[in-house]
Amino acid sequence: MTSIPRDRPGGPNPLRALGLDRLRRRTSMKWRAYPEDVLPLWVAEMDVPLAEPVVRAVTDALDLGDTGYSAGTGYAEALAAFASRRWGWDGLEVERTAIVPDVMLGVVEMLRLVTGPGDAVIVNPPVYPPFYQFVTHVDRRVTEAPLGADLRLDLEVLEAAFRRAVADGGRAAYLLCSPHNPTGTVHTAEELAAVAALAERYGVRVVADEIHAPVVAGGVRFVPYLSVPGAERGLALMSASKGWNLAGLKAALALAGPGAAADLARMPEEVGHGASHLGVIAHTAALRDGTGWLDALLAGLDANRRLLADQLAGRLPRIAHRPAEATYLAWLDCRALGLGDDPAEVFLRKGRVALSSGLPFGTGGDGRVRFNLAASPEVVEEAVRRMAAATA
Ligand SMILES: Cc1ncc(COP(=O)(O)O)c(C=O)c1O
Repeated sequence: MTSIPRDRPGGPNPLRALGLDRLRRRTSMKWRAYPEDVLPLWVAEMDVPLAEPVVRAVTDALDLGDTGYSAGTGYAEALAAFASRRWGWDGLEVERTAIVPDVMLGVVEMLRLVTGPGDAVIVNPPVYPPFYQFVTHVDRRVTEAPLGADLRLDLEVLEAAFRRAVADGGRAAYLLCSPHNPTGTVHTAEELAAVAALAERYGVRVVADEIHAPVVAGGVRFVPYLSVPGAERGLALMSASKGWNLAGLKAALALAGPGAAADLARMPEEVGHGASHLGVIAHTAALRDGTGWLDALLAGLDANRRLLADQLAGRLPRIAHRPAEATYLAWLDCRALGLGDDPAEVFLRKGRVALSSGLPFGTGGDGRVRFNLAASPEVVEEAVRRMAAATA
């Protein structure tokens, strides 16, 4: 595998910067959903301070009172330059992008462009639960094409789902999670090219959610869907929100392949007004000047993945787990522990540690939990200790 270039390895690990006292002062979802005695490792927020270039850009904007409406293509230009440096992809054309409020609202808008009410949207469970909720909310039908036992795309299952989805003559879309949440699977160029070929054969439109793209493990190469042959009619969503912990600073980008430019051009202009100008400023600064910070984060996550594997092997060897290739999430198969369909409930009740239940992730989620690794090594260790205590 080709390594991704890393800018300034050796910067301080942002996962070690904040203690629990400071984190508990946060008012975001991760820290407010459970009482103080619960260690929260659930929703995809990271226990990190912001990258200094992001803080500077947002603080400068506040100083200046630069809090009006967003203008220009700076975010898309910063992403295009990042994509070129990081993934060797020079095909991100700023003219084929549009700002959207966030990735999930962007997904909804892309689905509106290429499908109608009642049409099928194919997803690969176990998968990020809002894929079900947002798709249903816009009156599309979720069709499952589960990942294989190796947690990778199963192209035969996908083809059967595509065939079924268009059998009644309706339109259909495939909501691809790349990299995949919760398993951390990074789809290869070959897999993505095969997806594109299938999509063309069945007339299914691909919408790729690439929000986790900046967060890959050492030595793993992320491949943008729109960079593979045959993906010209594809649409994708990218954002700095996961890589730099900016979910509260709303902004994301929709990208169209050359054959989808006319579709993206139909997106109503007012959709873009939902992004926050401060969000656009923060995301742009992250992509342009925050790669040194990102590399330090990725090194810290690599270490946490190894730590989690060691801790589980030592304390909970019956949990089956393969270290993720991307994301800061770990997908743990707890079925051998005999804790029933929802081990997260047991870990919370008996161990006072909050993980995400696997159940809302769809088929293949029962007996599993999702563990958020974007915490200090001490918190990761303490979480496993609490999980082990809950099973004793
Ligand atoms: C796959 C995936 N898509 C979208 C989101 C949410 O992104 P946003 O807050 O930009 O809607 C997440 C958050 O964890 C995610 O994991």
